[in-house]
Amino acid sequence: MSATGTSRQKMPADILAMKGGAPIVCLTAYTTPIAKLVDSHCDLVLVGDSVGMVLHGLPSTLGVTMEMMVMHGQAVARGLSNALMVIDMPFGSYEESPAQAFRNAARLMAETGAGAVKLEGGVHMAETIAFLVARGIPVMAHIGLTPQSVNTLGGYKVQGRGEGRARLIADAKAVAEAGAFSVVLEKVPQGLADEITAEVAIPTVGIGAGAGCDGQVLVVDDMLGLFTDFKPKFVKRFGQLGVAAEAAVADYAAEVRDRSFPAAEHSFADEVKK
Ligand code: KIV
Repeated sequence: MSATGTSRQKMPADILAMKGGAPIVCLTAYTTPIAKLVDSHCDLVLVGDSVGMVLHGLPSTLGVTMEMMVMHGQAVARGLSNALMVIDMPFGSYEESPAQAFRNAARLMAETGAGAVKLEGGVHMAETIAFLVARGIPVMAHIGLTPQSVNTLGGYKVQGRGEGRARLIADAKAVAEAGAFSVVLEKVPQGLADEITAEVAIPTVGIGAGAGCDGQVLVVDDMLGLFTDFKPKFVKRFGQLGVAAEAAVADYAAEVRDRSFPAAEHSFADEVKK
Protein backbone atom coordinates (compact mmCIF):
# COMPACT_ATOMS: atom_id res chain seq x y z
CA MET A 1 0.00 0.00 0.00
CA SER A 2 1.40 3.39 -0.85
CA ALA A 3 1.23 6.72 0.98
CA THR A 4 -1.29 7.93 -1.58
CA GLY A 5 -3.69 5.09 -0.81
CA THR A 6 -3.83 2.71 -3.80
CA SER A 7 -1.97 -0.50 -4.46
CA ARG A 8 -1.73 -0.37 -8.26
CA GLN A 9 0.10 2.12 -10.42
CA LYS A 10 -2.01 5.15 -11.23
CA MET A 11 -3.45 5.68 -14.69
CA PRO A 12 -4.44 8.89 -16.52
CA ALA A 13 -8.09 8.28 -15.57
CA ASP A 14 -7.11 8.34 -11.88
CA ILE A 15 -5.48 11.75 -12.36
CA LEU A 16 -8.52 13.03 -14.29
CA ALA A 17 -10.75 11.86 -11.43
CA MET A 18 -8.76 14.04 -9.01
CA LYS A 19 -10.14 17.23 -10.63
CA GLY A 20 -11.37 19.53 -7.88
CA GLY A 21 -10.36 17.11 -5.12
CA ALA A 22 -7.18 16.50 -3.15
CA PRO A 23 -4.27 18.34 -4.80
CA ILE A 24 -2.31 16.27 -7.33
CA VAL A 25 1.33 15.89 -6.28
CA CYS A 26 3.81 15.75 -9.12
CA LEU A 27 7.61 15.84 -9.35
CA THR A 28 10.08 15.16 -12.12
CA ALA A 29 12.48 12.21 -12.03
CA TYR A 30 15.22 11.18 -14.45
CA THR A 31 16.86 8.22 -12.69
CA THR A 32 15.85 5.02 -10.89
CA PRO A 33 16.99 6.08 -7.39
CA ILE A 34 15.08 9.36 -7.52
CA ALA A 35 12.02 7.61 -8.98
CA LYS A 36 12.09 5.18 -6.02
CA LEU A 37 12.42 8.09 -3.60
CA VAL A 38 9.44 10.08 -4.92
CA ASP A 39 7.12 7.26 -6.02
CA SER A 40 5.03 6.71 -2.88
CA HIS A 41 4.63 10.47 -2.28
CA CYS A 42 3.54 11.42 -5.79
CA ASP A 43 0.44 10.85 -7.90
CA LEU A 44 2.31 11.59 -11.11
CA VAL A 45 6.03 11.48 -11.95
CA LEU A 46 7.18 13.38 -15.00
CA VAL A 47 10.25 12.40 -17.00
CA GLY A 48 10.66 16.01 -18.07
CA ASP A 49 12.82 17.26 -20.90
CA SER A 50 14.24 19.53 -18.18
CA VAL A 51 16.62 16.54 -17.88
CA GLY A 52 18.66 18.24 -20.61
CA MET A 53 19.41 21.28 -18.47
CA VAL A 54 19.40 19.58 -15.06
CA LEU A 55 21.48 16.45 -15.74
CA HIS A 56 23.18 17.09 -19.09
CA GLY A 57 24.21 20.74 -18.65
CA LEU A 58 22.43 21.91 -21.82
CA PRO A 59 21.56 25.64 -22.07
CA SER A 60 17.88 24.89 -22.85
CA THR A 61 15.58 21.92 -23.52
CA LEU A 62 15.96 22.29 -27.29
CA GLY A 63 18.87 19.85 -27.56
CA VAL A 64 17.07 16.98 -25.84
CA THR A 65 16.67 13.94 -28.11
CA MET A 66 14.28 10.99 -28.32
CA GLU A 67 17.19 8.73 -27.34
CA MET A 68 17.78 10.73 -24.13
CA MET A 69 14.08 10.56 -23.24
CA VAL A 70 13.93 6.80 -23.90
CA MET A 71 17.00 6.16 -21.73
CA HIS A 72 15.80 8.28 -18.80
CA GLY A 73 12.24 6.98 -19.18
CA GLN A 74 13.43 3.39 -18.90
CA ALA A 75 15.44 4.27 -15.79
CA VAL A 76 12.50 6.01 -14.11
CA ALA A 77 10.06 3.20 -14.95
CA ARG A 78 12.26 0.77 -12.98
CA GLY A 79 11.67 2.86 -9.86
CA LEU A 80 7.90 3.39 -10.00
CA SER A 81 5.06 1.20 -8.74
CA ASN A 82 2.55 3.82 -7.52
CA ALA A 83 2.72 7.07 -9.48
CA LEU A 84 1.65 7.52 -13.07
CA MET A 85 4.70 8.01 -15.29
CA VAL A 86 4.34 10.75 -17.90
CA ILE A 87 7.15 11.36 -20.38
CA ASP A 88 7.91 14.56 -22.27
CA MET A 89 8.00 14.59 -26.05
CA PRO A 90 11.23 16.41 -26.92
CA PHE A 91 11.45 19.43 -29.22
CA GLY A 92 11.09 18.44 -32.87
CA SER A 93 9.47 15.06 -32.17
CA TYR A 94 5.80 16.07 -32.57
CA GLU A 95 5.28 19.53 -34.07
CA GLU A 96 5.54 18.57 -37.75
CA SER A 97 2.34 16.55 -38.01
CA PRO A 98 -0.04 14.36 -35.98
CA ALA A 99 1.49 11.31 -37.72
CA GLN A 100 5.01 12.28 -36.60
CA ALA A 101 3.70 12.86 -33.08
CA PHE A 102 2.00 9.44 -33.03
CA ARG A 103 5.14 7.66 -34.26
CA ASN A 104 7.31 9.20 -31.56
CA ALA A 105 4.73 9.04 -28.75
CA ALA A 106 4.14 5.35 -29.50
CA ARG A 107 7.90 4.73 -29.37
CA LEU A 108 8.23 6.55 -26.02
CA MET A 109 5.39 4.54 -24.51
CA ALA A 110 6.44 1.18 -25.97
CA GLU A 111 10.13 1.50 -25.07
CA THR A 112 9.72 3.04 -21.60
CA GLY A 113 6.37 1.81 -20.27
CA ALA A 114 5.17 5.39 -19.64
CA GLY A 115 1.43 5.72 -19.12
CA ALA A 116 1.14 9.02 -20.99
CA VAL A 117 3.10 11.66 -22.90
CA LYS A 118 3.32 15.40 -22.35
CA LEU A 119 3.65 17.93 -25.14
CA GLU A 120 3.82 21.71 -25.26
CA GLY A 121 1.23 23.88 -27.00
CA GLY A 122 -2.42 24.95 -26.88
CA VAL A 123 -4.78 25.75 -29.75
CA HIS A 124 -2.18 24.91 -32.41
CA MET A 125 -1.51 21.45 -30.91
CA ALA A 126 -5.18 20.54 -30.31
CA GLU A 127 -5.49 18.55 -33.55
CA THR A 128 -2.39 16.53 -32.62
CA ILE A 129 -3.67 15.88 -29.10
CA ALA A 130 -7.00 14.60 -30.48
CA PHE A 131 -5.13 12.41 -32.99
CA LEU A 132 -3.00 10.81 -30.26
CA VAL A 133 -5.87 10.31 -27.80
CA ALA A 134 -8.03 8.68 -30.50
CA ARG A 135 -5.18 6.20 -31.08
CA GLY A 136 -4.65 5.18 -27.45
CA ILE A 137 -2.07 7.69 -26.26
CA PRO A 138 -3.08 9.71 -23.17
CA VAL A 139 -1.79 13.27 -23.36
CA MET A 140 -0.90 15.81 -20.71
CA ALA A 141 -0.80 19.26 -22.30
CA HIS A 142 1.58 22.08 -21.27
CA ILE A 143 0.64 25.72 -21.83
CA GLY A 144 1.71 29.13 -20.57
CA LEU A 145 5.49 29.31 -20.57
CA THR A 146 6.46 26.50 -22.93
CA PRO A 147 10.25 26.27 -22.65
CA GLN A 148 10.69 24.60 -26.06
CA SER A 149 9.39 27.88 -27.57
CA VAL A 150 11.81 30.08 -25.62
CA ASN A 151 13.14 31.64 -28.82
CA THR A 152 9.74 32.74 -30.11
CA LEU A 153 8.48 33.75 -26.66
CA GLY A 154 11.54 35.98 -26.20
CA GLY A 155 12.70 34.41 -22.94
CA TYR A 156 11.33 32.61 -19.89
CA LYS A 157 8.67 35.26 -19.17
CA VAL A 158 5.34 35.12 -17.32
CA GLN A 159 2.62 34.28 -19.87
CA GLY A 160 -1.03 35.31 -20.05
CA ARG A 161 -0.84 38.97 -19.06
CA GLY A 162 -2.64 41.64 -21.12
CA GLU A 163 -3.70 40.37 -24.55
CA GLY A 164 -2.18 37.01 -23.73
CA ARG A 165 -4.90 36.32 -21.17
CA ALA A 166 -7.65 35.44 -23.69
CA ARG A 167 -5.15 33.41 -25.75
CA LEU A 168 -4.20 31.32 -22.75
CA ILE A 169 -7.84 30.66 -21.80
CA ALA A 170 -8.44 29.56 -25.42
CA ASP A 171 -5.38 27.28 -25.21
CA ALA A 172 -6.64 25.64 -22.02
CA LYS A 173 -10.12 25.06 -23.47
CA ALA A 174 -8.67 23.72 -26.74
CA VAL A 175 -6.44 21.09 -25.10
CA ALA A 176 -9.27 20.02 -22.76
CA GLU A 177 -11.70 19.67 -25.65
CA ALA A 178 -9.07 17.77 -27.66
CA GLY A 179 -9.01 15.10 -24.94
CA ALA A 180 -5.93 15.86 -22.82
CA PHE A 181 -6.36 14.30 -19.36
CA SER A 182 -4.59 17.19 -17.61
CA VAL A 183 -2.74 20.39 -18.40
CA VAL A 184 0.40 21.94 -16.98
CA LEU A 185 0.17 25.72 -16.46
CA GLU A 186 3.68 27.17 -16.29
CA LYS A 187 4.49 30.71 -15.14
CA VAL A 188 0.91 32.01 -15.34
CA PRO A 189 -0.55 34.74 -13.06
CA GLN A 190 -2.43 33.24 -10.12
CA GLY A 191 -5.81 34.81 -10.93
CA LEU A 192 -5.70 33.56 -14.50
CA ALA A 193 -4.69 30.06 -13.37
CA ASP A 194 -7.65 30.06 -10.96
CA GLU A 195 -9.99 31.11 -13.78
CA ILE A 196 -8.67 28.38 -16.10
CA THR A 197 -8.94 25.80 -13.30
CA ALA A 198 -12.60 26.75 -12.82
CA GLU A 199 -13.33 26.78 -16.58
CA VAL A 200 -11.85 23.47 -17.76
CA ALA A 201 -13.00 19.98 -16.82
CA ILE A 202 -9.48 18.53 -16.66
CA PRO A 203 -7.01 18.99 -13.78
CA THR A 204 -4.58 21.89 -13.99
CA VAL A 205 -1.11 21.19 -12.65
CA GLY A 206 0.72 24.41 -11.85
CA ILE A 207 4.35 25.40 -11.81
CA GLY A 208 4.53 29.09 -11.01
CA ALA A 209 0.72 29.34 -11.30
CA GLY A 210 -0.35 29.78 -7.67
CA ALA A 211 -2.00 27.54 -5.11
CA GLY A 212 -5.42 27.33 -6.78
CA CYS A 213 -4.48 24.76 -9.42
CA ASP A 214 -5.67 21.15 -9.08
CA GLY A 215 -2.06 20.09 -8.50
CA GLN A 216 1.54 21.22 -8.40
CA VAL A 217 4.72 20.12 -10.15
CA LEU A 218 8.35 21.01 -9.48
CA VAL A 219 11.65 19.87 -10.92
CA VAL A 220 12.94 17.49 -8.27
CA ASP A 221 16.53 18.76 -8.40
CA ASP A 222 15.23 22.31 -7.83
CA MET A 223 13.16 21.44 -4.74
CA LEU A 224 15.95 19.29 -3.27
CA GLY A 225 18.48 22.09 -3.73
CA LEU A 226 20.62 19.91 -6.03
CA PHE A 227 20.36 22.18 -9.08
CA THR A 228 21.76 25.55 -8.08
CA ASP A 229 22.80 27.21 -11.37
CA PHE A 230 19.73 29.46 -11.03
CA LYS A 231 16.46 29.49 -9.04
CA PRO A 232 13.20 30.58 -10.68
CA LYS A 233 10.87 32.60 -8.39
CA PHE A 234 8.35 29.72 -8.31
CA VAL A 235 10.86 27.25 -6.86
CA LYS A 236 10.91 26.55 -3.14
CA ARG A 237 13.93 24.60 -1.94
CA PHE A 238 12.59 22.03 0.51
CA GLY A 239 16.14 20.74 1.05
CA GLN A 240 19.75 21.87 0.56
CA LEU A 241 21.17 18.62 -0.76
CA GLY A 242 23.70 20.35 -2.97
CA VAL A 243 25.29 22.02 0.06
CA ALA A 244 25.26 18.74 2.01
CA ALA A 245 26.78 16.85 -0.94
CA GLU A 246 29.58 19.37 -1.39
CA ALA A 247 30.43 19.22 2.32
CA ALA A 248 30.57 15.41 2.12
CA VAL A 249 32.87 15.55 -0.93
CA ALA A 250 35.15 18.07 0.84
CA ASP A 251 35.32 15.76 3.92
CA TYR A 252 36.18 12.78 1.69
CA ALA A 253 38.94 14.72 -0.11
CA ALA A 254 40.42 15.89 3.22
CA GLU A 255 40.40 12.36 4.67
CA VAL A 256 42.03 10.86 1.56
CA ARG A 257 44.71 13.54 1.71
CA ASP A 258 45.46 13.05 5.44
CA ARG A 259 45.13 9.23 5.08
CA SER A 260 42.40 8.94 7.74
CA PHE A 261 40.23 7.27 5.08
CA PRO A 262 40.05 4.33 4.56
CA ALA A 263 40.18 3.32 8.24
CA ALA A 264 40.64 -0.24 9.51
CA GLU A 265 36.89 -0.95 9.30
CA HIS A 266 36.91 -0.19 5.56
CA SER A 267 39.94 -2.43 4.89
CA PHE A 268 40.49 -6.18 4.54
CA ALA A 269 42.82 -8.29 6.69
CA ASP A 270 45.40 -10.48 4.96
CA GLU A 271 44.02 -13.56 6.70
CA VAL A 272 40.46 -14.30 7.84
CA LYS A 273 40.42 -15.20 11.58
CA LYS A 274 38.94 -18.65 12.27
O1 KIV B 1 10.45 19.36 -18.33
C1 KIV B 1 9.90 19.56 -17.25
O2 KIV B 1 10.44 19.24 -16.18
C2 KIV B 1 8.58 20.18 -17.24
C3 KIV B 1 8.00 20.60 -15.93
C4 KIV B 1 8.75 21.74 -15.40
C5 KIV B 1 6.55 20.85 -16.01
O3 KIV B 1 8.00 20.35 -18.27
